[in-house]
Amino acid sequence: MTKLFFFFFSFLYTITTLTFPPLTTSAATSCRTLCGNIPINYPFGIDGGCGSPQYRGMFNCSTDLYFTTPSGSYKVQSIDYEKKTMVIFDPAMSTCSILQPHHDFKMADIQNTLIRPSYDTVFALFNCSNDSPVHNRYRNLCFNAAGHSCDELYSSCTSFRIFNTTSPYGNNSTVHTTPYCCFTNYDTVRVMSMNILDCSHYTTVIDNGKMRGVGPLDWSYGIELSYSVTEIGCDRCRKSGGTCGFDAETEIFLCQCSGSNNNPTRECGGGMTDRGGCSFTNINFITTLLTMFMSFIYTVL
Ligand SMILES: *[C@@H]1O[C@H](CO)[C@@H](O)[C@H](O)[C@H]1NC(C)=O
Ligand SMILES: *[C@@H]1O[C@H](CO)[C@@H](O)[C@H](O)[C@H]1NC(C)=O
Ligand SMILES: *[C@@H]1O[C@H](CO)[C@@H](O)[C@H](O)[C@H]1NC(C)=O
Ligand SMILES: *[C@@H]1O[C@H](CO)[C@@H](O)[C@H](O)[C@H]1NC(C)=O
Ligand SMILES: *[C@@H]1O[C@H](CO)[C@@H](O)[C@H](O)[C@H]1NC(C)=O
Repeated sequence: MTKLFFFFFSFLYTITTLTFPPLTTSAATSCRTLCGNIPINYPFGIDGGCGSPQYRGMFNCSTDLYFTTPSGSYKVQSIDYEKKTMVIFDPAMSTCSILQPHHDFKMADIQNTLIRPSYDTVFALFNCSNDSPVHNRYRNLCFNAAGHSCDELYSSCTSFRIFNTTSPYGNNSTVHTTPYCCFTNYDTVRVMSMNILDCSHYTTVIDNGKMRGVGPLDWSYGIELSYSVTEIGCDRCRKSGGTCGFDAETEIFLCQCSGSNNNPTRECGGGMTDRGGCSFTNINFITTLLTMFMSFIYTVL
């Protein structure tokens, strides 16, 4: 009976210490700097307490890097830390080779201010109804995309060939009439949902200035996001081999260091290290595990 009691208590103790770790351990995570082939640097982070707290919970790394918005998770194709842009791909949108029904691309308000589609990203809306706002009152939201027309897409993409239609005209003759389409930017789809826009399909293309004279087969499909970084000055931390991060609870800046080389202040190693708290936690943890193991043996025997 006492054996069981002892076991139960040490078990309870272990669970409690594991579930409610002291604040010092929240800084003990090391930050991964690569996800798939995408380098992860400030302000982004894929581990708890890494990167800027502003981007907290927006990214996950399950073999590949994913950016999550209220409308879904989108695979990140590249990040340009110089230009401060990121290219994501929406697998549910239409492209030159696949036709998929429209759906909304939505971002949270905070994402709209921090990391939103750049003005180089063109939203091409296809097969818009006669009542579509972009066909009527908001026609001026549509622009010419580097000299390209919808008819060009309708005739060069296998997926959009369905829109290369002819309709009977008069009695015997037919005429080439393609459904209305609109090249516009993110603001349009942000303000009006796809249902309001009333266009059955869409795609997004990045007009990086090289789209003129290039056929739709060779366009780069995807969404380029332009992000902002609050310069917090984390060179000191980075140079010491750390990653700029934050405390999970308070969101206060922390320089995340790898392994035991941990000093949750401004830089890794050296400096004014308060190792006391850290090693105490470790000893505590090991003691508990040991106690648990011993009591387990004791109970079994
Ligand atoms: C993480 O990424 C996957 C894609 O592999 C996605 O399906 C999932 O929803 C994401 N998880 C979170 C919590 O965002
Ligand atoms: C084009 O839009 C109309 C509604 O405006 C819809 O009935 C039709 O199915 C759409 N065409 C395709 C190929 O989806
Ligand atoms: C598109 O339609 C026009 C007129 O019907 C036709 O001449 C042309 O061959 C079509 N293009 C394709 C790629 O189907
Ligand atoms: C079709 O042609 C006939 C005779 O050529 C004409 O009477 C009729 O009005 C035409 N219909 C339409 C819809 O154009
Ligand atoms: C339609 O075609 C027939 C012959 O195929 C011709 O007799 C008739 O005049 C044509 N109608 C129109 C409206 O073009």
